[in-house]
Amino acid sequence: MEKKRILTGDRPTGKLHIGHYFGSLQNRVKLQDMHETFIEVADVQALTDNFNNPEKVKNNVKEIIMDQLSVGIDPNKVTFFLQSMIPEIAELTVFYSNLVTIARLERNPTVKTEIAQKREIFGESVTYGFLGYPVSQAADITAFNATIIPVGEDQLPLIEQCREIVRKFNSIYGETLQEPQAYLGENKRIKGLDGNEKMGKSLGNAIYLSDSEEEISKKVMSAVTDPSRIKKDDPGNPNICMVAYYHNLFSKEEVEAICEECKAGRRGCVACKKQLIKNITEHLAPIREKRCYYEQRPEEVKEILMEGTLKARKEAAITMGKVKEAMKLDYFKEV
Ligand code: TRP
Repeated sequence: MEKKRILTGDRPTGKLHIGHYFGSLQNRVKLQDMHETFIEVADVQALTDNFNNPEKVKNNVKEIIMDQLSVGIDPNKVTFFLQSMIPEIAELTVFYSNLVTIARLERNPTVKTEIAQKREIFGESVTYGFLGYPVSQAADITAFNATIIPVGEDQLPLIEQCREIVRKFNSIYGETLQEPQAYLGENKRIKGLDGNEKMGKSLGNAIYLSDSEEEISKKVMSAVTDPSRIKKDDPGNPNICMVAYYHNLFSKEEVEAICEECKAGRRGCVACKKQLIKNITEHLAPIREKRCYYEQRPEEVKEILMEGTLKARKEAAITMGKVKEAMKLDYFKEV
């Protein structure tokens, strides 16, 4: 199989949770052995809607690197890098901004949804930077000549917009950039403890990879169950119970029996929750252990990010050379 290049990333705005774990991190672990992988910590993108909270972005950079290392993403196979330390990405963003209309950005479904969700920050009028973040994301991807982009479904309009930018660039300046493709993988979206379709840091319904047994216990105890079940021997409906939903993920061998017992009214919710707490805790134990290792070695984490960033910069510089040549911005080349 021909080795291709993968690029993906996260905004450092919070620690990673089990939604990320099933939705994207397991996928990254699998892909790291198949293709050359670059993983961006998108701190510049995080600032587009957190410009007034730089502390939050800074603090979460190391958290999301540690989360990824702890689930088995291997720094010897993968290149982790910081977006803000690759000036080529900012340069490309400026060049690409001529190739995108404001109307097209305003029509981007992902941007539209996010603007609606972020009224608190933007009020009636969105910033230039936020509206333009799809352009900057196109720069992230093309700076590394990446063609496989593992993302969640919500990101598809951003990849499509990147493809448009690439086509436009190539048609004007000559064949230079490669069109990337979104990779959805199994793309499981994990529901929140409250039954919300999405587990999210801003929704307060998440179990974090770094949660202690006590925190897991508290959260599972408060998870939404079948509301019509009052007494222990009332028959339950596992289809509307979040505890049954997580048993599906963490108690694979037992889940069938669990649901049968629940439906027959032979299983109390408290015992059911305790069993889930035990299984989640056991599943996350090696992850937490690895996280502890890195928490005690901040220098090692910093080193991983610094080395990766240096390598990433070299790659971005190669692309920059080609882009400038194509755009006739290589003035002093033959001097
Ligand atoms: N927008 C992505 C998110 O919010 C993060 C991201 C930034 C990204 N740059 C990227 C994803 C490049 C894939 C490729 O999750």
